[in-house]
Amino acid sequence: MLRVGLLGAGRIGSVHAQTISGHPGSRLEAVSDALVANAEKLGAAFGAQVRSSEDIINDPQIDAVLIATPTDTHSDLIEAATAAGKAVLCEKPVDLNLERAMACQQTVARNGQPVMVGFNRRFDPNFATLQASLKEGEIGAPELLAVTSFDPAPPPVSYVKVSGGLYRDMMIHDFDLSNFLMGVPPETISAVGTSVVDPAIAAAGDVDTAVVTMTYADGRIAVIKNSRRAVYGYDQRVEILGSGGLLQAQNVLEHTVVKSTADGVISAKPTYFFLERYMAAYRAEWDAFVTAITAGTQVPVTLEDGVAALAMAEAATRSAQTGAPVRLAEILKPVAK
Ligand SMILES: NC(=O)c1ccc[n+]([C@@H]2O[C@H](COP(=O)([O-])OP(=O)(O)OC[C@H]3O[C@@H](n4cnc5c(N)ncnc54)[C@H](O)[C@@H]3O)[C@@H](O)[C@H]2O)c1
Repeated sequence: MLRVGLLGAGRIGSVHAQTISGHPGSRLEAVSDALVANAEKLGAAFGAQVRSSEDIINDPQIDAVLIATPTDTHSDLIEAATAAGKAVLCEKPVDLNLERAMACQQTVARNGQPVMVGFNRRFDPNFATLQASLKEGEIGAPELLAVTSFDPAPPPVSYVKVSGGLYRDMMIHDFDLSNFLMGVPPETISAVGTSVVDPAIAAAGDVDTAVVTMTYADGRIAVIKNSRRAVYGYDQRVEILGSGGLLQAQNVLEHTVVKSTADGVISAKPTYFFLERYMAAYRAEWDAFVTAITAGTQVPVTLEDGVAALAMAEAATRSAQTGAPVRLAEILKPVAK
């Protein structure tokens, strides 16, 4: 039985409290939050102690910690937890700053504990099925990937201000999904971003709508489209064209009833947002973590994967500022040891 401490009891921390408690191989022992009331609420709901993050990290009775605190705390907490001998699952992104994330990677290598990054979309049953089909060669050689990822509504500006911007906060999922599907990171990244949804997002220095194109060493191409607003719900689709056909993962709808009348054909909207759309993925992600830690095998999404996606976000941010494509190799230089 994996004894787990949860750091951060906000939106995604509440999801993880459910996955940890609902898994037969793990037990939620303790929860921390900078706002004690948040931790108390989750602790009471799941029968876990309320303690400080430091206390949890240094408790020899805890085997693993799940980090669900704001992004600017991730590297520090990963380093502290691995130094204390804990296995870690940390929410995306690894950090707001690429160099800090790379330094964290080196510290973790020295500490020798496993760290998995929470790229939950790899565990979505639809995307995982698509990837398995691709890997089996069912559409021949992949040539063109298109990822669509639209949120139903923008987050509060207070969140936008500390998020690191759309490319690091939101598109990071799509960068990792592209790496998962294409098998390797791209060679070049070109980005165009604009703010047409919410003027407050532009005032905070961020964009709310963006398109990225990526080229690969072997000539393949990928396109990612992001928006912070789709009035019909959470739009999460993937399409990949190969030499022998096409694979598409469609949206998950609120229900499957289709109404056809003289006026037209109407189906349900996509599920509202990530809590509804990806609950199965969060459960499968946690199961993969528990399985790997219990068996002593490699975690399926590594810190290297997290750093690669962050480097892509950094490249996209630079490209959007300069208007020129950015080579990933320029960004992903190792930091001095
Ligand atoms: N994988 C996903 O689908 C997904 C979805 C949402 C958020 N996230 C990521 O999860 C992280 C948290 O996002 P959120 O939306 O849950 O934010 P949130 O603001 O809802 O929750 C964060 C919580 O952490 C607490 N906190 C702040 N500093 C802390 C500290 N030093 N120690 C302990 N607790 C602290 C806050 O009081 C808050 O309760 C972010 O990095 C975000 O990118 C991932």
